[in-house]
Amino acid sequence: MRRYPCPVPRVLSCIQPTGVVHLGNYLGALRNWVVGQHECDAFHGIVDLHALTVTDRPGVLGTSTLELAATLFAVGLDPEVATVFVQSHVPEHAQLGWVMECTVSYGELSRMTQFKDKSAKREADFVSAGLFTYPALQAADILLYDADEVPVGEDQRQHIEITRDVAMRFNGRFGDTFVVPKIVTPRAGAKVTDLQEPTAKMSKSSNTDAGIVYLLDEPAAILKKFKRAVTDSDGEVRFDRAEKPGVSNLIEILAACTSRTPQQVAGEYTQYGPLKADAGEAVVEILAPIQHRYHELMGDKAELSRLLRTGAEKARAVASATLERTYTNIGMLSPE
Ligand code: AMP
Ligand code: TRP
Repeated sequence: MRRYPCPVPRVLSCIQPTGVVHLGNYLGALRNWVVGQHECDAFHGIVDLHALTVTDRPGVLGTSTLELAATLFAVGLDPEVATVFVQSHVPEHAQLGWVMECTVSYGELSRMTQFKDKSAKREADFVSAGLFTYPALQAADILLYDADEVPVGEDQRQHIEITRDVAMRFNGRFGDTFVVPKIVTPRAGAKVTDLQEPTAKMSKSSNTDAGIVYLLDEPAAILKKFKRAVTDSDGEVRFDRAEKPGVSNLIEILAACTSRTPQQVAGEYTQYGPLKADAGEAVVEILAPIQHRYHELMGDKAELSRLLRTGAEKARAVASATLERTYTNIGMLSPE
């Protein structure tokens, strides 16, 4: 168990470097990470080893890892405050991952719905063993850092439950070693739906680009996407997700960008045109400093590497102590 007293909870969240970050990710999640870093001991891993489970092209993963890192710093994660690191820079993940594979059972892994879904979707594709043992690596991500809380959405609940079970099993077999983490619901951010298909979540797996606002979209492209956003034909501005999904999405986005409630925003408009234009402008305005900082960082790879090195050093200080404690408690032969 972690031996030192801890005034604020340690919170860990990880993100895979797959796909491009969009407005839904920002308003729904990343923006809250930025606030959260001042309220807890925040660890944020960019989990490239997890992405390896579905990577088969050379030269892609490193670039998307770097781009995601630049994005996280650009939105405001402060490397002096939060610990932002790349999973493969901390070799203890792979090492504890193996110990976790030997602590979780084949039956438990077989019950994971994410594996069943992902392997079914990849029917004609290669299904790696890593896709099956994925939750063991995820358990290692969490347990390495003595995380008290792991904020995740519903789709990840099963993986955190298995982490808790595995931690308790290990502690039972080999003595107190791991902090058993709590699953917490992330603070609610804005819900952003697709501008072309407003009943569907804005998502990187969407069919068309016209409905998705990417964090790095040019202002003109953003304004155009908002101008063409699908609304409805009754002409009334009202916040009602069920009856008026398109209009409500615009209202919610504008509210989130200008720190108001959807009701306040709805009360100020009578026509769709100005609502679309203002929502577009507000998004351009909120993304401008993020894009500026992103391009600055991507133009200074040495600085980006330095920031990631700092993160990896902070992460390793914790992770290596946990791995050592794990080996010691098992009673493995020390090389010294
Ligand atoms: P994903 O890219 O789906 O793995 O999501 C990464 C994070 O962004 C998760 O915390 C999601 O809850 C959040 N997120 C993704 N899409 C949206 C959306 N359309 N609206 C709000 N939050 C979202
Ligand atoms: N499996 C998570 C996802 O697909 C990513 C992840 C990996 C994660 N390790 C984690 C999330 C540890 C929380 C904690 O989104």
